[in-house]
Amino acid sequence: MLSESIDGLNIRPEGTYVDVTFGGGGHSRAIMERLGAEGRLLAFDQDEDAARRVESGEWKVESGESANFTFIQANFRHLKRFLRLHGVRQVDGVLADLGVSSHQFDTAERGFSTRLEGELDMRMDRHSALTARELVNGLDEEALTRLLRLYGELPNARQMARAIVTARASQAIDTTMQLREAVARHLPRGMENKYLAMLFQALRIEVNGELEALREMLEQAAELLVEGGRLVVISYHSLEDRLVKNFMRSGNFDGGVEKDFYGNPLSPMRQLRKCSATEAEVAVNSRARSAMLRVGEKKVESEKMKVER
Ligand SMILES: C[S@@+](CC[C@H](N)C(=O)[O-])C[C@H]1O[C@@H](n2cnc3c(N)ncnc32)[C@H](O)[C@@H]1O
Repeated sequence: MLSESIDGLNIRPEGTYVDVTFGGGGHSRAIMERLGAEGRLLAFDQDEDAARRVESGEWKVESGESANFTFIQANFRHLKRFLRLHGVRQVDGVLADLGVSSHQFDTAERGFSTRLEGELDMRMDRHSALTARELVNGLDEEALTRLLRLYGELPNARQMARAIVTARASQAIDTTMQLREAVARHLPRGMENKYLAMLFQALRIEVNGELEALREMLEQAAELLVEGGRLVVISYHSLEDRLVKNFMRSGNFDGGVEKDFYGNPLSPMRQLRKCSATEAEVAVNSRARSAMLRVGEKKVESEKMKVER
């Protein structure tokens, strides 16, 4: 999906682009390789580990014409504000490869992995206050059930929540393995990993305010794009993908298409294409199984006028 997403940006060598999810910098590197000396890339990540990768020189670009690169350690929900701070008011393309990076998954103490023993943390930005530990030990059964149903889409959210509340009554649940143990009896046979992934996903989404940040970023991205500019989003679960799909189609998040007096959809974007991962990609990276790539384009105002007339 790397090449599809970069192709989706339709990069002009002298253009200005934003990678709002730098992570390990794979996409940023590919963008830089297509930019000329006049081009510019601004990359966001709220995780200090990503920032360190840039500062230490571990991340570098070997080919290309050394376009201008700026790393911004911040939540992408502040996209517009930080771009303005860096003198950027319009961009040619925005790329978002959502969710957790493989570095974050593979670092046990971050608490993202269902397989590794670690603190129940799950914060992408370790300066933020809320951790998964606080949710698991602090929410009452009702609130936990709602969270697991809404963000984990767990069919047995109530049972899972009750099991958590019962387990923590004797001892606080501090680690990923303690959480696994607490819900072990409610993981359907053969679907243990799937259910655990759904449980961890629910907690992670709440800890990081992922859906609110995504909504805010999409709206700001559409404002910042030049006419014909591209928005490329890779999402990893249906809650994210639904927001992206609705936004590209209708310019809002509930999917209802509003039309103007002439019957033209009042949406700033149009979806150009979507694709999911190939079998070969899933074989290398199992997380790609649920990935969905969508490419949108900011509508050209003059085109719209032609249709109206
Ligand atoms: C799937 S990884 C991106 C991987 C990257 N495309 C690469 O090539 O290595 C997602 C990254 O986005 C970051 N991230 C997720 N949500 C964010 C947000 N709201 N603001 C800033 N960074 C965010 C995470 O910290 C993580 O490093």
